[in-house]
This record gives sequence, structure tokens and C-alpha cells, in this order.
Amino acid sequence: MKEQGKSPIGIFDSGIGGLTVVRALAAALPSEDLLYVGDTAHLPYGEKSLLAVREYALRISEYLYERGCKLVVIACNTASAAAREELRRHWAGRMQVVDVISPLVEDIAGRNFKKIGVIATKATIRSDVYARSLHELRPDVEVYSLATSLLAQMIEEGFFNNQISRSVLHQYLSYPDFEDIEALLLACTHYPIVRPEIEAYFGERVRVFDSVDTVVERVRAVLAAEDLLNASERAGQCKFYVSDYTHSFQQTAEIFYKKYVPLHLLRWQGERLEPV
Ligand code: DGL
Repeated sequence: MKEQGKSPIGIFDSGIGGLTVVRALAAALPSEDLLYVGDTAHLPYGEKSLLAVREYALRISEYLYERGCKLVVIACNTASAAAREELRRHWAGRMQVVDVISPLVEDIAGRNFKKIGVIATKATIRSDVYARSLHELRPDVEVYSLATSLLAQMIEEGFFNNQISRSVLHQYLSYPDFEDIEALLLACTHYPIVRPEIEAYFGERVRVFDSVDTVVERVRAVLAAEDLLNASERAGQCKFYVSDYTHSFQQTAEIFYKKYVPLHLLRWQGERLEPV
């Protein structure tokens, strides 16, 4: 293991969505230290322009680099659509960058689906990144995309597994173009939280995929290839930062983790994220 192998992995999202990735990373790579940034001051990213989100992503990655991270996971589809290429270019040779789009697209392209549905934030759907990337690998697939703008905020507010979430999901998933899809991609890291409800809606008819497992495997592969996996025996630490303290984030994080989650506050000072 290189010296830098002991450094943490940085992960960020606009809010609690990226916790779905953090939880899986902590389980798969238990020796790694994880630093999470939820940019709650700018939530929801999905309603912002890609230009604005690209700027936030760059600044957050700077913060994580300054904390010594060896790899950053853009645990947000909107930020991945906006900034994955730029971040990769910017940090080349200094910090590894893993986004949530490429691993899922590559996995899906290797399967035999002909009609694929995609749900995501408005900004991700507008970027057309899923349809474009899938078509690069599989020009024959039909991709049907739908912006499900309410979902991330609904989940952030703690509305899941209840009548409200079921009725909002029903409204979106009954989209006529989804009538005969074979697979549905949950192209927002908030959505795995409502995955059981989505699977219940479609039953056996449609296979549902999110990016969590493929991203964790990509992180492991990148770290292994660079000899950066933390080889120590001790349990890794996980630290959570938010750019604005909100009661709903605290509550939802605790429902999600089933335990108290201590949050550390950061502040945007002009273009920089600073500890408070
Ligand atoms: N979790 C984010 C994503 O994967 C964005 C949610 C939002 O802030 O709109 O796109």
C-alpha cells in the first residue's frame, strides 16, 4: 500500500442521497476513513443550472482535497452529469475521481435490455447524459427518461414508506412511456431510499437498478489499481459535514442509519467551504 492509502475517501452530494453510497462503502471497505459533505445550503441541485452545480462540485472537491482525500466520489447524479469530466481533468495525478453515472451505465449496457426507463432530477434529465452514454455503448437500446423533480426533496423531508411517497411515486411511474420498459434506472442517489416502493409498484415486470453497488465496486477497483486500498486492520471512521444544518437532514439521516448521526457544520465563505 502506498503512503496515501491511509488517507480518507471523500464523498459528496447535495443532501442525504449520498449516504446511500457511504453506507455501502463503509460495509464493503471497513478499514477506509470516509468524509461526507452534504451541500444542504444548495439543495436541491436538480433545480439548479449545470453551471452552478459544476462550480459547487469543484469547490467541494477542493475542500476534500485539502482534507487529504485520496479519492472523491461524486455521489450525486446531477453533480456527476455537470462536473465529472471537469473534476477528472482538474484532479488528474492528485486525487482519483469516481462518478455515479459511468459504473451504472457500463453495467446496464452489458445486460440484454432493449427498453430502459430512467428517472432523475430535472438537471440530470435535461443533460441527457444517460441516454447519450447508453447509446454510445448500445446504440440499439430505447431509453425513456422522466424528470421526477419532487422525489429528492420529498425524500430529504423524510417522506418515504408512507402514503404520500406512494402516491407521488404512482403519479410519476404511471408515465405512459414506461408502459413496457424492462428496466428502470434510479439515476439519483436519493432514490434507493424509495427503491422498495418502486419495486412494489412494478412487481416482477420491471427490474430496478441503482448505482450504489456498481459505484462501490468501482471505488474498490480504482483504489486497488493505484495500490491505495487501506490495508490496516482498524475500523475506519466516518465523519459527516453539512453546509447548512437542517433538522430534516438530521432526522432523515437517523431514520436511514437507525442511530444518532453527529453532523459537523461547514459554511460557504464566498467560493470556499470552511469549517465553522
Ligand atoms: N442526489 C442527487 C442526485 O443524485 C440530487 C438531488 C438534488 O439535490 O436535487 O442527482
